[in-house]
Amino acid sequence: MSKPSKPSPLPPSIAWRGDAEGCLLLLDQTRLPHERVVLEINDAEGVADAILRLAVRGAPAIGVAAAYGLYLGVRTQRPMSGAVLDCAREVAARLLATRPTAINLRWALDRCLEHAREHGSVESLLTIAQHLHTDDQKRCRLMGENGWQLVPKGGTVLTHCNAGRLATAGDGSALSVLFAAWRHGARFEVIADETRPLLQGARLTALELHAEGIPVQVAPDSAAAGLISRKEVDLVLVGADRVVSNGDFANKVGTYSVALACQAHSVPFYVVAPLSTFDDQIETGAGIPIEERSPTEVLTLGSKALTPAGVGARNPAFDVTPGGLVTGYVTEVGILEPPFDRAIKAALESSR
Ligand code: MRU
Repeated sequence: MSKPSKPSPLPPSIAWRGDAEGCLLLLDQTRLPHERVVLEINDAEGVADAILRLAVRGAPAIGVAAAYGLYLGVRTQRPMSGAVLDCAREVAARLLATRPTAINLRWALDRCLEHAREHGSVESLLTIAQHLHTDDQKRCRLMGENGWQLVPKGGTVLTHCNAGRLATAGDGSALSVLFAAWRHGARFEVIADETRPLLQGARLTALELHAEGIPVQVAPDSAAAGLISRKEVDLVLVGADRVVSNGDFANKVGTYSVALACQAHSVPFYVVAPLSTFDDQIETGAGIPIEERSPTEVLTLGSKALTPAGVGARNPAFDVTPGGLVTGYVTEVGILEPPFDRAIKAALESSR
């Protein structure tokens, strides 16, 4: 019997095509894993819509896409040379309103506005977007190199949601560590939480790992604690949408319960995130805004209703895990260990 063929490599999650008159290409993640549809986007509203409906998703990817969206929005309005910054501020506000939890969105837009203030031209906004794009690729590579030795040879790693190539402009955060370990010759297996309700683990993480030849099995989110308790998991690696000053962090809903299970059963729980995901303007996790998405995402599967008509649903897209449950933060500048308040302060200061 012939072996099932390896899927062809995915197009990049984000690409810019052409020169200043070019357009943004986004791989539509809502269509994965079955269809590979690349969206060609020419205006800020198209980027905002892609972020809102999760065609582009994952904290770093949202930031890079928004940076291109800002350029596209200002390009469309063709402001006079003295009015570029005001126009950019207006477009940035629209993009910022799309998703509240991932700090990378604000981080990237703030950098673009800073650049516009210094340089003042419409084209300078494309330059900074392209810089943020390659900067994220570099951060992903460094996180992979800094973290790969954590992966236990012959062991099993559990991950939640998708923190891979699709969630960034580069190799991913948590998955970058796995890709680097695999490149370095470590062999291991992965359990991908399916990640209800939008199934980023089942659709996206499984796709990325499978394409790389890394053995992956998908498990219902509700199976994670039991698998961890039975020592079927040696390490947990997750990404983050926002890490605050005391080491608390927000990530895809369901992360907190995985962290609790790890603490109860002494399994190491690492968060892999670039410093662009750290927010030192907020002291504790209680201050992180949590996006509440449409109940329809919970109440339906495809076009099929899952519940009796008239039943409501809660749909918080993220939860907050206390820093006390985190073993360490793998970043592009190294692995941060507790006490996190000091380690985070020092890492952010050294990177400014
Ligand atoms: O709602 P999503 O799919 O954008 O949520 C994504 C996550 O929670 C990721 O784990 C996080 O952004 C880190 S991605 C490197």
